[in-house]
Amino acid sequence: MIELEGLTRVYQGGRGAVRAVDGLSLTVGNSEVFGLLGPNGAGKTTAIKMMTTLSRPDAGRCLVGGFDVVREPGKIRERIGVVPQENNLERELTARENLTIYAMLHRVRDAERRIEENLRRVDLWDRRDSVVTGFSGGMQRRLLLARALLAEPSVLFLDEPSIGLDPQIRRQLWDSIRKTRIDGRTVVITTHYIEEAEALCDRVGILCRGKLVALDSPENLKRSVGECVVEFIDAEGKLVQHIHRGRGEANADAAGEHNSSVTVRKTNLEDVFIKLTGERIE
Ligand SMILES: Nc1ncnc2c1ncn2[C@@H]1O[C@H](COP(=O)(O)OP(=O)(O)OP(=O)(O)O)[C@@H](O)[C@H]1O
Ligand SMILES: [Mg+2]
Repeated sequence: MIELEGLTRVYQGGRGAVRAVDGLSLTVGNSEVFGLLGPNGAGKTTAIKMMTTLSRPDAGRCLVGGFDVVREPGKIRERIGVVPQENNLERELTARENLTIYAMLHRVRDAERRIEENLRRVDLWDRRDSVVTGFSGGMQRRLLLARALLAEPSVLFLDEPSIGLDPQIRRQLWDSIRKTRIDGRTVVITTHYIEEAEALCDRVGILCRGKLVALDSPENLKRSVGECVVEFIDAEGKLVQHIHRGRGEANADAAGEHNSSVTVRKTNLEDVFIKLTGERIE
């Protein structure tokens, strides 16, 4: 559904050129939920902007649904839905009015029915006639999702869908996102939340300074660094982590540490990122 080949975008800044996305190559299959995981400034939004035709690549190729972002942007726009990182709802209008305007601009057929269906999908039907200003952050994110789904896109792009939401509200949004898979839609999500990538994505590409440093299922990525982490605070107050292949080795290590703060836990994608880059994501 998506093919990136050496995709590159360079920004000219005050301190010289920044290769925001630097030779990104990957493919996303039909009805796959694919995640781009990386810290602030990794290039996630820049990559999404190119895939959604909002920004032109400086080099490389990007196909969405078989169409080229540079040569056939209109064809792509007809087939995608986007939840941008920056909330761009009309805040003075109601939920329903926001969707009505979008439906008109995108010539959505059977708009009234589709609006109801999507407001119900994100549990906002009861609030359909309330203005967006009175909505919580989580409700606004859900409304953005409903809007992105209105024209029945075959690919859905979500740029940091749960940014700024507290953990419980984030889970409600994840449920709404999971429901979008039902009709076999391809979903691309960017996030810097480890848990979000693990909870939603079939495969995850880990991005650091515009480059892909790993690409696999969350399970395989974690297995590649080891199954368990032994953690404790040492005499100098520093966090020490030992990664082990299996639970048995980890338990033996923990028992040998004679340190009251020692814990054993499963590895997560943050451990993968640290191992590959020496830096932290969250
Ligand atoms: N319009 C722009 N002009 C100049 N530099 C930019 C522009 N947009 C992004 N950059 C730079 O490109 C790099 C990647 O930014 P980008 O917004 O794609 O990262 P991100 O992974 O989405 O980060 P975040 O998690 O903070 O959203 C950063 O170094 C950023 O400063
Ligand atoms: Mg971003």
